[in-house]
Amino acid sequence: MRDLLPSTVAVAVAGPGDWAAELLPAEQACLGERAARTRRRDFIAGRVCARRALTDLGLSPTAVPAAADRAPVWPVGVVGSITHTAGYCAAAAAHSTDIRSVGLDAEQHREVNPGVRRLVLLPEEEADCARLPSGTHWPVVLFSAKETVYKVWYPIVRSWLDFHDARLELDPDGGTFTARIAPARVDAATAEDAPAWITGRFVVADGLVRTAAVLAQR
Ligand SMILES: CC(C)(COP(=O)(O)OP(=O)(O)OC[C@H]1O[C@@H](n2cnc3c(N)ncnc32)[C@H](O)[C@@H]1OP(=O)(O)O)[C@@H](O)C(=O)NCCC(=O)NCCS
Repeated sequence: MRDLLPSTVAVAVAGPGDWAAELLPAEQACLGERAARTRRRDFIAGRVCARRALTDLGLSPTAVPAAADRAPVWPVGVVGSITHTAGYCAAAAAHSTDIRSVGLDAEQHREVNPGVRRLVLLPEEEADCARLPSGTHWPVVLFSAKETVYKVWYPIVRSWLDFHDARLELDPDGGTFTARIAPARVDAATAEDAPAWITGRFVVADGLVRTAAVLAQR
């Protein structure tokens, strides 16, 4: 994940001991007592990574609770993002003076079933996948990139973005993607200067797809 983001973004990836660490009280309150074991482990690893990223930025490792909409609540002056999938977890954080928004996502590199493909991919993206080099499950790369796009979009705009609200194009050689957000969504956004384009990077390695994107501060 580190290589997908600029150096002004601190990135932490979970190690083996990070999935069973202690939560801070404000974080524990968000998770609740009844969370399933895997959910608890994922949430813990995300918070450990988040606090490590804050430390790497030179900040104190304060709690990163979750809002009612599930978005992480970063300290004032910080933007960040968290992802987890089986066996992998990462968090990114940056000073909001450098970075306006950051998103990251990790998925298992595997086939996406036709029902999910229809939900996630626009017909033109489905056609693109057929033209891209074989050996990579491109639909899951697009899925991950779209989740990254949402994690960049949401903290700025605070509104829903459907999978079909972004048209993604991948550059398989450069490991980059470009998302054009549906103009209707951009126009409807109440946030000032909602992004019409979000560009990011991806890598497929070790059985995982990893994607990340930032919007630089204006
Ligand atoms: C929110 C969402 C993107 C999370 O992705 P995921 O693959 O399910 O799960 P990940 O492990 O990668 O990410 C989960 C983390 O995302 C973060 N997150 C949740 N909601 C968020 C939001 N609205 N904005 C930013 N980050 C959010 C949280 O930190 C969460 O981890 P936590 O609950 O342990 O704190 C996904 O569940 C979702 O709702 N997707 C539909 C919207 C979408 O992707 N649209 C595509 C637009 S092109």
